[in-house]
Amino acid sequence: MKNKDFFYLQYNKINWKNQEKTKINSFINDYIIQNVISNHKGDSISIFDIGFGIGFFFKMLFPALEGKYQKILIEGCEPSRVNYDYFLKKKPKELPAGITINTHKKTFQDTKTDIKFDFVTAIYVFPHFLSEDLESVVKKIHSLLKDGGIFILVLAEDKYLENKLKTEQDLFIEKGKFGR
Ligand SMILES: C[S@@+](CC[C@H](N)C(=O)[O-])C[C@H]1O[C@@H](n2cnc3c(N)ncnc32)[C@H](O)[C@@H]1O
Repeated sequence: MKNKDFFYLQYNKINWKNQEKTKINSFINDYIIQNVISNHKGDSISIFDIGFGIGFFFKMLFPALEGKYQKILIEGCEPSRVNYDYFLKKKPKELPAGITINTHKKTFQDTKTDIKFDFVTAIYVFPHFLSEDLESVVKKIHSLLKDGGIFILVLAEDKYLENKLKTEQDLFIEKGKFGR
C-alpha cells in the first residue's frame, strides 16, 4: 500500500535533473507561458507551482516574465529532497529585477502560504496525490487562487508516455542504478 510519501521519495532515485539535457517538458512549459500566463494583464503577476521538481518551469518563466511585469512572485513546493536541493544549487545567485521566489521543501498538502495567486500550476503532479486527498487538494488550490485566478493542470497522455518509455528508457532513470 502506497502512502503519500512514496510519490516524492521515488524522485530521490530518479534522475529527474536529466530533464535539463532532454528538455522533456519544454514544449508544454512554453505553451503554458506563451498562451496562458503571458496573457495576464497588469503590473504584477503571481504563480504557485505545485511539485516544481528541479525548477525547470521556473527557469523558463524568468526570461519570459522579466520586464513584462514590475512585480513577479514565483512560489512553489517540492517535497523531494534531491529535486529541491538541485533547484537551490542551480538557482541564479541574483534574480532578474522584480522577481521574488518563495519555495517550500514540502508536499502541497503540508505547504502553508497566506498569499493568493493569479495562477496555480500542477505540471505532471496530480497522479501523485492519493485519491482520498484529492478533495482537500482541490479545495486548497481554490483557496490559493485570487478571484478570477487560473488553475493550470497538465496530465500525461497514457499512450504517448508508454511509447516514450519504451523507446527512450533512460529518459529519467540513470542507467545501472537499479538491479533486478
Ligand atoms: C513528474 S515530476 C514533475 C516535476 C515538475 N512539475 C516538472 O514538470 O518537471 C512530479 C513531481 O511532483 C513531486 N511530488 C510528489 N508528491 C507531491 C506532493 N504530495 N506535493 C507536491 N509535489 C509532489 C515529486 O517530488 C516530483 O518532483
